[in-house]
Amino acid sequence: MDNLLTIKQASVWASKHLGRDVTPSNISYLVQYGRIPKRGDNGRVLVDKLELQAYYRKHFSTTEDRWKQKLGQDLNWHLSFSDCKESERTKHVHRLHPYKGKFIPQLVEYFLDEHTDEFKKEAYFKPGDIVLDPFCGSGTTLVQANELGINAIGIDVSAFNAYISNVKVSHFDLEDIKAEAAKISKNLSEFQRQNNNAAFEQHLLEKLKEFNNKYFPSPQFRFKVRKGEINEKQYSKQKAEEFLKTYSKLVDEYNLQLRQPKEDTFLEKWFLQPVRNELDFVFEQVKGIENIKTKKVLGLVLSRTMRSCRATTHADLATLKDPITQTYYCRKHGKICKPLFSILGWWQRYVQDTIDRLEKFSNLRTDTYQRCLVGDSRNIDIVSNLKDKAPKLAASIQEEGVAGIFSSPPYVGLIDYHEQHAYAYDLFGFERNDDLEIGPLYKGRGKEARDSYIEGISEVLLNSKPVLKEDYNIFLVANDKDGLYRSIAERAGMRIVREFKRPVLSRVEKDRSAYSETIFHMKEK
Ligand SMILES: C[S@@+](CC[C@H](N)C(=O)[O-])C[C@H]1O[C@@H](n2cnc3c(N)ncnc32)[C@H](O)[C@@H]1O
Repeated sequence: MDNLLTIKQASVWASKHLGRDVTPSNISYLVQYGRIPKRGDNGRVLVDKLELQAYYRKHFSTTEDRWKQKLGQDLNWHLSFSDCKESERTKHVHRLHPYKGKFIPQLVEYFLDEHTDEFKKEAYFKPGDIVLDPFCGSGTTLVQANELGINAIGIDVSAFNAYISNVKVSHFDLEDIKAEAAKISKNLSEFQRQNNNAAFEQHLLEKLKEFNNKYFPSPQFRFKVRKGEINEKQYSKQKAEEFLKTYSKLVDEYNLQLRQPKEDTFLEKWFLQPVRNELDFVFEQVKGIENIKTKKVLGLVLSRTMRSCRATTHADLATLKDPITQTYYCRKHGKICKPLFSILGWWQRYVQDTIDRLEKFSNLRTDTYQRCLVGDSRNIDIVSNLKDKAPKLAASIQEEGVAGIFSSPPYVGLIDYHEQHAYAYDLFGFERNDDLEIGPLYKGRGKEARDSYIEGISEVLLNSKPVLKEDYNIFLVANDKDGLYRSIAERAGMRIVREFKRPVLSRVEKDRSAYSETIFHMKEK
């Protein structure tokens, strides 16, 4: 029974399976023309996933076949986790805060747990061990280690990343979080009532609804664009300008100041004045919370809220272009959209989501210890840094040593790890260490950048050696297009004993090109 899918479900499944768009009408066609049997009940048309799979196997090469043709037969399809639902990849605390460049938790679990299979012939870690992640990022290794009863130490040069990681693995008083969050939400609603931004937004929404219903009816508008009956560019430009008159009138009527007086910092540039006022208001409330752990969780909720309330268009959320202060035509939604004038909605939503996620994780967690240190992994003294924060763990490292490393280093010239959270650095006033990032975006991917990358990553491995057990296992996940990891291992006095090649399927919508990353398994030379 589990394999029965509706036409819509089948189209979603088939699109994923084949790596191309399969519409519900494509599936209906297969049923109508008897290519696959109809398995309906009560007039509902259902299809059997296994029968659909068999049909595709016979008639098309699968995503797996095509990827293997491009990337080589040694691609370990098992590690694509293609069957793993989005909700599992982002389960419980893994989605407490956005972070670009995160692991799939299932990948970490695969290497840290004790199972073996046709590819992983031995277990590398066991409960009670200590694992190290010197590029901890948002703490995926720490969280998965906790689930598996393994202690873990993370290190990250970015203070905000360490903050995210430590919130994920901390123990909380959930009742206190709920009570403090409810208090802040109530005060924020009150604050809103005293200002006119909420009333303005409400009024604007009514006008927008009316206008969009008239000029951008859904789905007819998109349908006409597709058929070429409407020139989207011209039409939307004209209509966006038309609506701006209504918008300006409303702004005047409510006497709103939208821009902040200065634009020097991220906080000044990327938030409308009414949003900024609310952010400052909530931040003051969070600062006043007595319980330090509750304060940290709600600080993270505020940061997540902030990120969703930047003055940008829906299309530019991932890569900011210019701050916006007015309504605009949104291609993504096929209508006129607006920036945010209040944070209340997102704040309330993220408070609830965070509480739910912490609750879920608290039912799974083990009584083990995880901590992310802030520092440069090339030279941090791990034991002395841990001594005051976790004396027991520091002692066990000295006694038994760290079993190994599981980590994904930054790649050469790909992501700015501080800049992606510029808003949080501005708000919380964390010290930035951009200059200490290995392989930073601004250095590019040239020879000099690659050489300094090899040096940086091998220094991290060398700096970890004093805490590692003799027979350690190191796993580094990397997209080693430039073939740098042989030199890295060599410089660190290690040997690569095995390479697991995994396809990376869930890439951004725009870029569906075949791409794989390698998990290098290294040991002492
Ligand atoms: C690919 S990300 C790790 C993501 C992580 N696996 C996760 O699931 O969230 C690499 C991390 O290395 C950190 N990093 C870069 N240079 C570093 C250095 N010198 N010392 C410590 N961490 C560094 C970056 O701040 C970034 O968070």
